[in-house]
Amino acid sequence: MWNYEKRLQYPVKITQTNPRLAQVIISQFGGPDGELGASMRYLSQRYTMPYKEVTGTLTDVGTEELAHLEIVCAIVYQLTKNLTPEEIERSGFDKYYVDHTLALWPQSAGGVPWSSTTFQSKGDPITDLHEDMAAEQKARTTYDNILRLVKDPEVADPIRFLRAREIVHYQRFGESLRIVQDHLDSRNFYAFNPAFDLGK
Ligand SMILES: [Fe+2]
Repeated sequence: MWNYEKRLQYPVKITQTNPRLAQVIISQFGGPDGELGASMRYLSQRYTMPYKEVTGTLTDVGTEELAHLEIVCAIVYQLTKNLTPEEIERSGFDKYYVDHTLALWPQSAGGVPWSSTTFQSKGDPITDLHEDMAAEQKARTTYDNILRLVKDPEVADPIRFLRAREIVHYQRFGESLRIVQDHLDSRNFYAFNPAFDLGK
């Protein structure tokens, strides 16, 4: 269950439209390493995670990724608000506009629709957490790539916030992996002696 707070996790106030940049940033909504996939990954994986504290981390981070999705959508929305047909044509936004007008729809910068095949929910805690750590790094790299293309400080500011959170998530999943490995090790240490019982 969720309670909705009617505010963004980090404020977005963009005064200059830029549809060309919006087409790039939309990748963090519905692209292969975007926030929609991130939230679905963690909120799907949590059910089979056997350790409560790690399930809690997946729920926390998956929820926060939904809040990030909202920030990315607010950025894209404000970058394309009230565009004229001339601005749409000149910026190359016409290919998106013809299918979605100025609405938000999850796709990559290259126009590929969002797909659940961009993530896994494998039912193995070690496998899932390695994927999660890699996913956070891929999201961080994408924000780095976006920041190289952004000149407007009103856009760069919330993007920098999102980038910083990916690093925190990476660290939290690193701790989670350590917790899982400690659990597995403790079974080895206390249930049998691997130097003696192995092979029996
Ligand atoms: Fe993240």
